[in-house]
This record gives sequence, C-alpha cells and structure tokens, in this order.
Amino acid sequence: MPVTAVVGGHWGDEGKGKVINLLARDADLVIRGHGGANAGHTVVNEQGRFAVHLIPAGIFNPRALCIIGPGVAVHPGLLVAELDELGAREIDTAGLRVSTAAHLVMPYHQSLDRAEDEAREERRLGTTGRGIGPTYVDKARRVGLRVGDMLNPAMFREKLRFVLDRKYHELAAVGVARPEADAMADEYLRLAERLEPYITETQPLVDEAVARGRQVVLEGAHATLLDLDHGTYPYVTSSNCTVAGLLQGSGIGPRRLTRAIGVYKAYCSRVGEGPFPTELFDATGDRIREIGHEYGTTTGRPRRCGWFDAVAGRHASRINAFDGIALTRLDLLTGFPELRVCVAYELDGAQIDYFPSQVETLDRCQPIYETFAGWEEPVTGARGWADLPPNAQAYVRRLEVLLEAPVQLIGVGEAREEIVQL
Ligand code: GDP
Ligand code: IMO
Ligand code: MG
Repeated sequence: MPVTAVVGGHWGDEGKGKVINLLARDADLVIRGHGGANAGHTVVNEQGRFAVHLIPAGIFNPRALCIIGPGVAVHPGLLVAELDELGAREIDTAGLRVSTAAHLVMPYHQSLDRAEDEAREERRLGTTGRGIGPTYVDKARRVGLRVGDMLNPAMFREKLRFVLDRKYHELAAVGVARPEADAMADEYLRLAERLEPYITETQPLVDEAVARGRQVVLEGAHATLLDLDHGTYPYVTSSNCTVAGLLQGSGIGPRRLTRAIGVYKAYCSRVGEGPFPTELFDATGDRIREIGHEYGTTTGRPRRCGWFDAVAGRHASRINAFDGIALTRLDLLTGFPELRVCVAYELDGAQIDYFPSQVETLDRCQPIYETFAGWEEPVTGARGWADLPPNAQAYVRRLEVLLEAPVQLIGVGEAREEIVQL
C-alpha cells in the first residue's frame, strides 16, 4: 500500500495521531499537507506520551522522513518550540523537512484571528487562535510570506514591509497597532537560522519516494466536517481537510493514492462552536467527557460530546471515498447500559439521510437514533475480533454498514499496541 491517506471523519480529535503513529512504523515518508498548529495529534508509544501540532506524528520513526508540506501554515516559533520539546525528550528530529513553499503564520495573523473571532460576538467560531484563517486569507490574496522567503534576509525584509504597508488598515480596524517591520523580521530571521537545516524543496523528495514505490503516509489534520467546502461552514477551519485537500497540500497526484483511511471515534466530539446534532447536554455527555478526558490537545478547552452521528460520518466517507475505517476509543464505551447511533435526521417533520450544507438547516435537524445494548467487559486487552464482546461486535458491524466502508482498525486504548487489526 504505497500511498496511504489518513483523514478525520467527524470534527477532529478522532485519534489520527495514534493511527498515523501505527502506520508510520513501516513508512519511509510521512507528510502533513494542510492546516497548522491548530492541530493536536497525540501519540502514546514506548517513548512516552506526546502531542504534536506541526511536526508529523511519524517523527517517532527515526527512519522516516517527515515533511511539513507546501499546503501547511507554519508558525516558526511554535515549530522551534516543538522541536525543543521533542529534543528535550530525546526524540530524534533529524528526519524533519519543511517545504520552502509552506506559508508563514505571522504575529499579525494571530492578532487578527483572535480579534476577528471576538468581534463576531455570539457568532464566534471558537477558533484555536493560532492565526490559521488569516494566514490562508493572505495566501489566497497573494500577500503571504513563505518559509523559503526567510532564506533570503534582504528580500524577506522587503516583502514584509510591502505586506505591512498593505495590512495596517485592516489591523487598525480591529485595534491592532501597526507592527514594526524590522523587529518582526529580526525575530523571524533568528528562527530561520535555527530552522535552516530542515528547510528544503520537498517536491523532489516526494516525487522520488513515489517513483520508487516507497511507503508514504499522508497525515490529515482537523477533519472532513471542518473542511472549508464540505464542513459546517462557517464553523470550519480554513483548509481543505479531505483526502483531496491532503493530496493537494502534499504534492501527490490523486492517481498515486492507494488507500484512504477514515478515522472516527466510537462516539462524537467537537471543540469550538457550530452545529453538532447528536450533542448531549446531559449526564451521559458529561460522563463521556470525564471518562474520555475530552479536553482539547491544543487549547485545553472541554470538548462537546455526543452519540455517533452516522449521517455526518457517511457524508465524510463518501466525499473521501474511504476504503477503510479506523474506529478509535471503543474502550470508552464499556459500561454504558445502552448506546445510540444517529442513522437519519428529522427535518421539519420529514426524515432525511443526507448531511445538509447550511448550518441553519442543520440547527433544525433532530437526530433519529438506533439503540444498541451496551457491554460491561473492558476491551482494552482485546487484540482480535473474537476478543470483543458480542454487543461491541454488533455496534461495530452496524457502523461499517452505515459508513459504507469496512472497519480495519479498532482502537481499544491509548497506547500504540492497544488495537484490534482486522
Ligand atoms: P487527533 O487530533 O485525531 O490525533 O486526536 P487527539 O490526539 O487530539 O485526541 C484523541 C485522544 O484519544 C488522544 O488522547 C489519544 O491518545 C486518544 N486515543 C486515540 N485512540 C484511542 C483509543 O483507541 N482508546 C483510547 N482510550 N484513547 C485513544
Ligand atoms: P486535530 O488535527 C478539533 C476547530 C476549532 C474551531 C475551528 C476553527 O487535532 O483533529 P481554527 O483555529 O482552525 O481556525 O479553528 O476548527 N479545529 C479543530 N477541532 N481538532 C482539530 O485538529 C481542529 N483544528 C481546528 O476548534 O472550532
Ligand atoms: Mg487533536
């Protein structure tokens, strides 16, 4: 399976980090293709428990090259902090490569992100405040600065001055003082010295790996329902979080893809604002949050929790053409007397089975549930299908029918080996 893409099937935090860490054991190349430090991917392996935000979760395999691809929004300060953190824990980061084409998240992008979200008041998105939206706005507006620009200090200073001359009105409108171009350039150029060994043209590395049939893992971030085109707009992130977006941002042609894995949790969670039809506001929701430690990996915010939404999940499965599902956190469902799965929505008195594109429509959708008997047995020790209680098996089998793709991996605990492979 030379080129495998791993993409989130709901609203993020499905356990992509764990799945990527598992697949990356045999990988030659692991590529992040979109988004930035708004992601938080947890890896638990023999070296400890880690959260990576910009660095691909494949970094724990010292034989793999790990690429931060052209489609990623890179904050150099956060990247250096992540390198330091991994270095302090003796993780070898020599395999990291950062694309010269990746866009830079600048301090003013972070200021704009926070100020704009606050100004939305009750319509706020609840962004991570990492400056991702404003960075992609500037990229599309063609006033973005890129990682490669930092390799030519004089040109970088000049480009930054040009950009700031155009942006100060926008900054002033949200109460941000005009930044001092030289001081900002000094700070970024200092970081660039530290990052220089990692910065390179990444496309030749990608092309060579693909041509030689090497094992390539594409690490999706966020998730399909946070995708700019297919998610719950405007309550989305500013990148394309689908398999297609990931291929684009990694520099791999769609025909090279050999496998697309959708990662779903055995229930749903969402952090930030926006529609979430199966959200639970009762003791069951609180219980899932507490036993699942559902607090954001990046921001520490409590995650909203609810039953598995198979309508939303199938929307993602179809858009991405998943040919396999990784279902994580099945262990957390042990001990619930019954479980529910949303199989359709009721909209204005009628039943629908598609995921509406307008949030105003979604807000009127009531989930229609199927109920499943729960199980009492802990499943963390399960390594084969036969080790799972019959009620857990029935739950998984129903999900694969609803998602129209076979379940290939089942997460039964945080650690890498706590998995059932089918
Ligand atoms: P990501 O953003 O998709 O990589 O997911 P996060 O790392 O933000 O959140 C997923 C959480 O679930 C992390 O704490 C993981 O360690 C944890 N996790 C992943 N798979 C499993 C699993 O099968 N069982 C349990 N108990 N935890 C898991
Ligand atoms: P991983 O890769 C969960 C959400 C934010 C907010 C919205 C927009 O760990 O699954 P942004 O800062 O991107 O402009 O915020 O998107 N969001 C995520 N939620 N997991 C993520 O990444 C997310 N990345 C962005 O909470 O609602
Ligand atoms: Mg996460």
